[in-house]
Amino acid sequence: MSKQLKVHGQDPIDIDDSCPNLLTALEHHGLHVQYHCREGFCGACRCKLISGEVTYINEPLAFVREGEVLVCCSLPQTDIELEIP
Ligand code: FES
Repeated sequence: MSKQLKVHGQDPIDIDDSCPNLLTALEHHGLHVQYHCREGFCGACRCKLISGEVTYINEPLAFVREGEVLVCCSLPQTDIELEIP
């Protein structure tokens, strides 16, 4: 079942089961997020998780604080809202 991803001021994006990760979904919708490794190592893709829950595809090695998410290696578990720095 698809989940909705909201980014401040944008129309919601549907994330379906074929989506590899949140970073790819954001890029496909023309939303620019900083990234480097795309594998959960560097922390460059850190975004603020305003609401909802994500699940990590692989446990990230980069430090993630409460209320943050690494979009390169995660998928939404519920409808979510993000703030891109
Ligand atoms: S791009 Fe490196 S942790 Fe996401």
